[in-house]
Amino acid sequence: MTSEVIASTSSKARQLNAEEIAEIEHEMTLYPDKKAVGLEALKIVQKHQGWVSDESLLGIAKYLDLPAADLEGVATFFNLVFRQPVGDNVILFCDSVSCWIMGCENMKSHIKDTLGIDYGETTEDGKFTLIPVPCLGDCDRAPVMMVGEELHRNLTPDSIDEIVKNVRSK
Ligand code: FES
Repeated sequence: MTSEVIASTSSKARQLNAEEIAEIEHEMTLYPDKKAVGLEALKIVQKHQGWVSDESLLGIAKYLDLPAADLEGVATFFNLVFRQPVGDNVILFCDSVSCWIMGCENMKSHIKDTLGIDYGETTEDGKFTLIPVPCLGDCDRAPVMMVGEELHRNLTPDSIDEIVKNVRSK
């Protein structure tokens, strides 16, 4: 059984904290206007909280004096801004053309069988969330996926098992 919403302490919705505000203020020194800071602010919140809740999005909008709808538009456009809680390790799975030619569908089926999750879902233990993404820029070593910050190339069922085992053992 899978869960799309993991209810853990770290996934609780909240407004901005002092550390996040300090980082957003730093971004404001780098960009000419507050609107340009919006995406960076969303990334900062996601880095700290794992996702961007409505409360946090409204907090950013208020802080930057931007319409919340504009910020929601930015968050929706960039599908790597997570608007609901995700697992500890997000699997960004490339299903673009080169990876598709090199058999990513079979790799996706293997992940589905191994972890019991489909796109947009999180494992029951909250360890993994699977998300499809367009090209990860390493097409000559397809199929490719990212787990957290790490890129994994030339995927096979065995290498996927190894990656999952390593992550689970941490
Ligand atoms: S198509 Fe998958 S990395 Fe480019």
